[in-house]
Amino acid sequence: MFTSIIIVLVLLVTGYVLRSIIKPKNYPPGPRWYPFFGSSYVVQQMSRKYGTQWKGLSKLARDYSTQVLGLKLGRELLVVVFGEKNLHQVFTQKEFEGRPDSFFLRLRCLGKRLGITFTDGPLWKEHRQFTLKHLKNVGFGRTLMEKEIQKEMLTVLEYIDRKKRKSVNVKEVLPLAVMNVLWRYVAGEKIKEDRLKSLLEILNMRSRAFSMAGGWLNQMPWCRYFMPRMSGYALIAKMNKEISDIIEEAIKKHKCNAVEGTDFIYSFLREIDENKETYTEEQLKTICLDLLIAGSQTTSNVVEFAILAALRNQGVQQKMYEEIKNTLGDDVPSWGDSYRLTYTSAFLLEVQRFFTIVPLAGPRRVLEDTQIDGYLIPKNTTVLISVADLHFDAGIWDKPHEFKPERFIDETGALKNSEHMYHFGLGRRRCPGDSLAKSFIFITFVGILQKYRIDCSNGILPSDEPNVGLIAAAKPFTVDFVPRTSCDSSN
Ligand code: HEM
Repeated sequence: MFTSIIIVLVLLVTGYVLRSIIKPKNYPPGPRWYPFFGSSYVVQQMSRKYGTQWKGLSKLARDYSTQVLGLKLGRELLVVVFGEKNLHQVFTQKEFEGRPDSFFLRLRCLGKRLGITFTDGPLWKEHRQFTLKHLKNVGFGRTLMEKEIQKEMLTVLEYIDRKKRKSVNVKEVLPLAVMNVLWRYVAGEKIKEDRLKSLLEILNMRSRAFSMAGGWLNQMPWCRYFMPRMSGYALIAKMNKEISDIIEEAIKKHKCNAVEGTDFIYSFLREIDENKETYTEEQLKTICLDLLIAGSQTTSNVVEFAILAALRNQGVQQKMYEEIKNTLGDDVPSWGDSYRLTYTSAFLLEVQRFFTIVPLAGPRRVLEDTQIDGYLIPKNTTVLISVADLHFDAGIWDKPHEFKPERFIDETGALKNSEHMYHFGLGRRRCPGDSLAKSFIFITFVGILQKYRIDCSNGILPSDEPNVGLIAAAKPFTVDFVPRTSCDSSN
């Protein structure tokens, strides 16, 4: 009897092990799978060796001569797509519109599958539309928003001024400024500065600690009990507590009408009062969380990279300054000026290509068995979209590893259509915050250049090699902002 049980157990384990290492028929090429871990080890190893996950995955795809890389992380099937045709397909086809339902993503959404960023199907569609419509109704993405951005840009300048030419770490001021604009439309007011600072610090740590695939915590959720810190669990729990407190406080104030004017939270609370099924306080909280997480660091990191690139390319900086001075004089910049400031706009596009903020977009979940490039992608496979790889594709960009704003200017001197740029994604899941991001980046950067020369007093240029986790960020650096005088312009 005992022997039979042992034999059955051995057969079951062998069956499980065999099943876990056999790839589905016509699955995309990639490294071999090991029991329990799949190809996790190879992915970790390559990411470490090449500095970032996207570079490691890109090298793996080249090693297997494929534009569709087939992997398995723990029990999760994961496919990474490369090349413009495949990116276009995943960004725009309905079969790829899902989001995975993993432990890591549920944890990020305060424990439930709610909000916009990590839901799909009717809930996602309804709430994405509702959120965009009501944010717009209260002024988001309209001319009014530009005034808020200009106000925040002036506070950034005041901050620099107060530093009296001492070296400045722009990380201390830029994320706060973006968050203030965003929160103005969501909750009608600013988040208290000390709270915001601690929240941004946690968001930074979280972004550095995780990769798009969710890391060990996603593949072995139980590891949180043994190593809460090392697995990143403690960090996410802290972030959830901090963000929840901020959002709950804002909702409470709205419930007793203690916030003046109109904003997104008021619109949502009205829907809750009408007893609409999916309109709950938990859903409101998670949407606010989605906007806070998706909006702040992505946008401020671009401005930070722009400052870094201006510092490293003094000739380019002077050319932009002259363009700004000759076109705007001392007028406060607005988004409408981006068409007149051709060279500066080309520079900002090049910043967003060269330092792709979201190198791996997604994750997406395949809603039914489908194909990419002739390979089978089974239902529920997770798909990552390698945007950064395309932004460095030598078939599209001339000398892609050189920083050249001119590549975005045509023979007539006009700004070139950026058709091969996918920094905000594409299709129905395209970034809904691009209007805020674009205006903020342009107005803040031009506002700074108009008043200051970006320099480094010790003569050592900071590295342009980014830190890449969930998103790309510049390695910590400081700059000297030297006030411009009328003699600075050659015209
Ligand atoms: C430079 C700044 C930004 C970049 C590079 C960026 C990039 C992206 C990308 C690539 C996606 C698409 C992901 C996919 O296709 O699966 C996305 C989605 C999203 N972004 Fe942004 N984003 C930026 C700023 C913002 C801002 C300011 C907001 C806030 C209003 C925001 C809110 C969102 C949300 C809520 C989603 C999820 C949309 C959905 O799943 O339907 N983003 N972003």
